[in-house]
Amino acid sequence: MISRRRALASGAGFTAALMAASGNAAAASLTDRRVPYGACVNITPFQDDPEYRVALETYCQQVTPEYGLYWDYLRPTRDQFNFDYGDKVLAFAEANEMLMRGHTLVWYAAMPEWTKQIGSAAEAERELAIHIDRVVSRYRGKIKTWHVVNEPIDDAKDGVAGLRPSVWLAQLGPTYIDMAFRLAHRVDPAAELLLNEYDVECVGEAFAAKRQALLTLVRELLARGVPLHGIGLQGHIHGQYEIDEDGLSRFVAEIKSLGLSVHVTELDVIDKELPAPITVRDIIVAARAHDFLHAIFTAARPAVIATWGITDRYTWMPMWNKRADGLLNRPLPLDEFYRPKPLWSVIDYFCRKTA
Ligand code: XIL
Repeated sequence: MISRRRALASGAGFTAALMAASGNAAAASLTDRRVPYGACVNITPFQDDPEYRVALETYCQQVTPEYGLYWDYLRPTRDQFNFDYGDKVLAFAEANEMLMRGHTLVWYAAMPEWTKQIGSAAEAERELAIHIDRVVSRYRGKIKTWHVVNEPIDDAKDGVAGLRPSVWLAQLGPTYIDMAFRLAHRVDPAAELLLNEYDVECVGEAFAAKRQALLTLVRELLARGVPLHGIGLQGHIHGQYEIDEDGLSRFVAEIKSLGLSVHVTELDVIDKELPAPITVRDIIVAARAHDFLHAIFTAARPAVIATWGITDRYTWMPMWNKRADGLLNRPLPLDEFYRPKPLWSVIDYFCRKTA
């Protein structure tokens, strides 16, 4: 028997009713073809705001702990591993037949103070191995998709983008990326392993340079036999710029031709520079997301469409992109009262798209 939540989330009332009535396999395969929708989970409202959980239960088939698997959260000291956040989100996912995504094993940011003491290649390799072994093995068979290396490409300067500085690049050189993937693969050979990156979708030289650098990196990794299975497009879309549909489609087609999957991992639309009136702003936000998803779907069907948050009530947006007029940011599919916005209609439309 299909639950109300799954029927609602599938968005396919007729098919869900069919399945509920007959358990019909053909009807089931129709709903299975839906691209799953996911959102990151902030632990504070997850614990304090019952409506937040209801929203996740109503809409999501996947969840990602927002910062519970960052190094600074997991390992405030070298020897401590603090899995409480990840474990809570996993328990919720399992109770609701959702998948939890792993974000992230290696990132330049959110590093605890003690990692500044890492002073040699041997020490860096040792810490990376300890970390990946502990974290991936804890969730082996449960987290089926890992954002292994997050944001490896630097923001482009003068049309060129290299690797982003980090303790890993400083101590190990570019090979830290190979190492991370090989370590994760050894610990959970069945897990899907992704590189996750942002700023590849808009019109402009910096975006084209990032796409180029990312493609070059991907080809090199594959040529070295690194177990890389897919690319995560974060999709923190700059609302004031147009989407480079042509450039993005060609990029996704290239990724697909290399045999890799494509995931939308952190979609939201930065509305800092957009007009104030809510109806206008919401339409522009939805239109940008439409163009972004349309360009991707032209080349490949993504494995997931996940947003970075679910409601405008709780979003990381004001951290870097507060509006000058003091109005609340509106980057996400539900408004601050959990009402679906035009952005949700766009996401739902693409999730149901079969080809
Ligand atoms: C953000 C989180 O939402 C914040 O809570 C945190 O303080 C900073 O990072 N790209 C990523 C995410 O991969 O992990 C970032 O999340 C947003 C940008």
